[in-house]
Amino acid sequence: MTERPAQPDPMLVVNNLCVAFPDRNGGWVDAVRNVSFTLGRERLGIVGESGSGKSQTGRAIMGLTAPGGRVSATELAFNGVDLLRCGTQERRALRGGRMAMVLQDPKFSLNPVMTIGAQIVETLRAHQEVSASVARNRTLQALEAVQIDDAQRVYKLYPHEVSGGMGQRAMIAMMLIADPDLLIADEPTSALDVTVQLQVLSILDTLVAQRGMGLIFVSHDLRLVSTFCDRILVMYAGRVIEELHSGDLASARHPYTQGLLNCLPQLGQSRHPLPTLNRQPQWAV
Ligand SMILES: Nc1ncnc2c1ncn2[C@@H]1O[C@H](COP(=O)(O)OP(=O)(O)OP(=O)(O)O)[C@@H](O)[C@H]1O
Ligand SMILES: [Mg+2]
Repeated sequence: MTERPAQPDPMLVVNNLCVAFPDRNGGWVDAVRNVSFTLGRERLGIVGESGSGKSQTGRAIMGLTAPGGRVSATELAFNGVDLLRCGTQERRALRGGRMAMVLQDPKFSLNPVMTIGAQIVETLRAHQEVSASVARNRTLQALEAVQIDDAQRVYKLYPHEVSGGMGQRAMIAMMLIADPDLLIADEPTSALDVTVQLQVLSILDTLVAQRGMGLIFVSHDLRLVSTFCDRILVMYAGRVIEELHSGDLASARHPYTQGLLNCLPQLGQSRHPLPTLNRQPQWAV
């Protein structure tokens, strides 16, 4: 484990982040609207329904917004670096190095024509000067750290030769190889069965606790986020409608969050008829 230089806290400052995409009629559709938050060496969860802007928030921070998309903010700073004004090269050096993102679908993130081992080695050597043999050993260790038992074999496999869950873990190994300060994990456990899901969460937990990493954990699963994260942002229609400490979920004030909580199954309670969430048009304003 390498000693880290002192970094400003909070490491990430996001003020009034907006992301918009062109629509077919020459106008713009707002995907993210005035999102503001800060992140220290902690676990921040972002929850919200499909299309609420969770992934686009993460992508904008990483500089991975799709071409044509428009990103603006009054402040977007990482470890004191102004992300809106830094050049493409500086951005690229940060990505995969000091900041990394596990994308929602690992199929699109792994290179199909390179073995898993070779691409993790390449990521490491793009950010740190290490010899080929050190890179290979660190890659094997990284694969073992995400609970891939036969790391030597998986190292030599191509992405299409591994299961979805194993691909997702290989992706997490690749994102952690350069020892980032900030990891954005977008639904990192959605393709995993419950036992492996818990293992992956415990790996991320250790990294936050032992290496002082900041984690943004994106999920639609309010229960998972509330047990795993310190703080939660609830998004709806591109906005953060509520920010809560995980322990304070019961005192959520926004009717959308209250509705989500009400829909969670509870042990020992009859759920007939099943509760549904009645969305109100004014929530999206
Ligand atoms: N390339 C794009 N062009 C146009 N609109 C886009 C593009 N990418 C995303 N959007 C829109 O931005 C909005 C937010 O999408 P985003 O992917 O952030 O949702 P999400 O909260 O991550 O949802 P999910 O839980 O389904 O992953 C959606 O309305 C989506 O249609
Ligand atoms: Mg998403």
